[in-house]
Amino acid sequence: MRLRKMLGAFLRKFEKKTLVESFHDEMNPEIMFDVVDETNPLLPWRDIRRIIFQNGSSYVYSTIYLHKYRHDQPIYYAVHQLTHSYLPRLSRLKSALVLGCAGCSIPRFLALSAPKCKITGIEYSEKMIEIARKYFVNDPTIFRNFQLLHADAFSYIHGLSEKYHLLYVDLFLADKNHPQIFADDFLRDLDSVTAEESITIINLLNLSKSDATRYILRFVELFPAAYVFNERFHYYGVLIKTANPATLKRFEARAVKNLRMEERFISPNLNPR
Ligand SMILES: C[S@@+](CC[C@H](N)C(=O)[O-])C[C@H]1O[C@@H](n2cnc3c(N)ncnc32)[C@H](O)[C@@H]1O
Repeated sequence: MRLRKMLGAFLRKFEKKTLVESFHDEMNPEIMFDVVDETNPLLPWRDIRRIIFQNGSSYVYSTIYLHKYRHDQPIYYAVHQLTHSYLPRLSRLKSALVLGCAGCSIPRFLALSAPKCKITGIEYSEKMIEIARKYFVNDPTIFRNFQLLHADAFSYIHGLSEKYHLLYVDLFLADKNHPQIFADDFLRDLDSVTAEESITIINLLNLSKSDATRYILRFVELFPAAYVFNERFHYYGVLIKTANPATLKRFEARAVKNLRMEERFISPNLNPR
């Protein structure tokens, strides 16, 4: 124990925090963001880059490992676990849509884990896109099949004919869920852009368990399986489309190894229990 503490103290001496750039978001000019690197020459596989929202208190938007052999990124543990649980052979994933990209931690995880997957990222802040292109998605050997589009996510998916196998919703205004994720139109649009075998993961950071449950219940007429998962009191909604009860059974068995499943709403003809 003492040796471990001494080793920790020794390693910490080499840790370096570097402010790479500070910027104001044009949508919220009063709010500052910092791009920060945290590195240690003795532990290079742990080197990370973050986008931190600064407004009195700080809140991390995105974090990536700088080394490309780290596929799972240091943030969004639940998203990685839910994706691996639904798609244990993630490299076969064909298409993914990420709504809200900032520093593109999720697109990086997908691009590294499924290099052939066609990944589309939607981000409405031009400044975030500029920062992402400069510091986060600038390695063409990783982002071969990734396109980062400047658009409003709600308009983008409305009337879109494409169908995605994985959809991730991470839409924030400052440090709050975007209010438009609660609109009926958005719920219907999510249904129309998801493939017949698909998973949709919604980051519900600001909602309590009961609010997250109430929100996810609104999807049960559109999606045959809807869940609320908990990662240390941070809730995620998960919507699955499938015709196969075994898919749900496998997904649940894997997901509960790492996350708490708070609620599950399954259409009666698919219930694997
Ligand atoms: C928490 S960050 C996303 C982090 C990102 N998913 C990742 O993988 O690192 C939320 C992002 O949503 C973006 N956003 C908010 N409303 C949006 C909208 N209507 N359309 C597109 N992007 C939006 C914000 O500009 C912000 O960059």
